[in-house]
Amino acid sequence: MVRAIVITSGKGGVGKTTVTANIGAALALRERKVALIDTDIGLRNLDVVMGLENRVVYHLLDVVKGTCHLDQALVRDKRLQKLYMLAASQHHLKEDLRQEDIKEVVQKLAEDGFDYVLLDSPAGIETGFRNAASAASEAIVVTNPEVSAIRDADRVIGLLSSMSVPCKLVLNRYDRSRARTGRMLESEDVKEILGVELLGVVPEDRDVLGASNIGVPVAIDGKGGAKKAFTLIAGRIEGEQAEDTTEGKGIWNRIKELLS
Ligand SMILES: Nc1ncnc2c1ncn2[C@@H]1O[C@H](COP(=O)(O)OP(=O)(O)OP(=O)(O)O)[C@@H](O)[C@H]1O
Ligand SMILES: [Mg+2]
Repeated sequence: MVRAIVITSGKGGVGKTTVTANIGAALALRERKVALIDTDIGLRNLDVVMGLENRVVYHLLDVVKGTCHLDQALVRDKRLQKLYMLAASQHHLKEDLRQEDIKEVVQKLAEDGFDYVLLDSPAGIETGFRNAASAASEAIVVTNPEVSAIRDADRVIGLLSSMSVPCKLVLNRYDRSRARTGRMLESEDVKEILGVELLGVVPEDRDVLGASNIGVPVAIDGKGGAKKAFTLIAGRIEGEQAEDTTEGKGIWNRIKELLS
């Protein structure tokens, strides 16, 4: 059974494409067969973050319109044998894609033996979001620890619930030292405000930007906190109960826990 997971957020620029690429790579490193679909029609980015832009010949709309077969459009990752990507078209509109089209593509990927399909959603809550979410059986909502991102995430969580798509949360660009000194919301606060399970906390990590620019996701070649976080998240998606050492607990919380 394929697991089709939409990565969405409401607010733009919070890290959906980064999270899609890295969770995909981390799952492929666990020998899962993974397809990443860029559903951000008109503004494709996933191919660049994956470093696969020169290999893209066909895209999602070509598959949907029957210009090519799915296997012609799927680009295999340079480093991971089980990781594939389907690019978005830059010359179409989000309205050119219908919900049935994307569901059919997911269905074909399921028949081809993929374990996971990760759908990188565009920002917003309109057609592009709805197309991606309608083809998914689960969602990962990405947010940053800032009020506007959290408010948009809350809205998206409500919409996903009305579409009966269960979701979990990834808190991205978290800075533990700023949270500790009260200059940023704590991860626990974000979790409480949004009321959904926290799949993982990805720290602010300057390697992420460099990795995007050279097209090698940190989950493949990184060394810092973001790589660790994506590895943990992939494990949790697969049902492992790993403690989040990247987030840290702080000495006072540890002492409180020991004494309680
Ligand atoms: N954990 C992180 N640490 C540092 N930088 C990050 C992190 N996550 C994402 N970024 C940076 O934030 C920027 C936006 O990320 P990304 O493109 O993944 O967001 P997005 O939600 O897909 O945006 P859009 O809504 O435009 O599709 C990129 O420059 C990326 O490198
Ligand atoms: Mg994006």
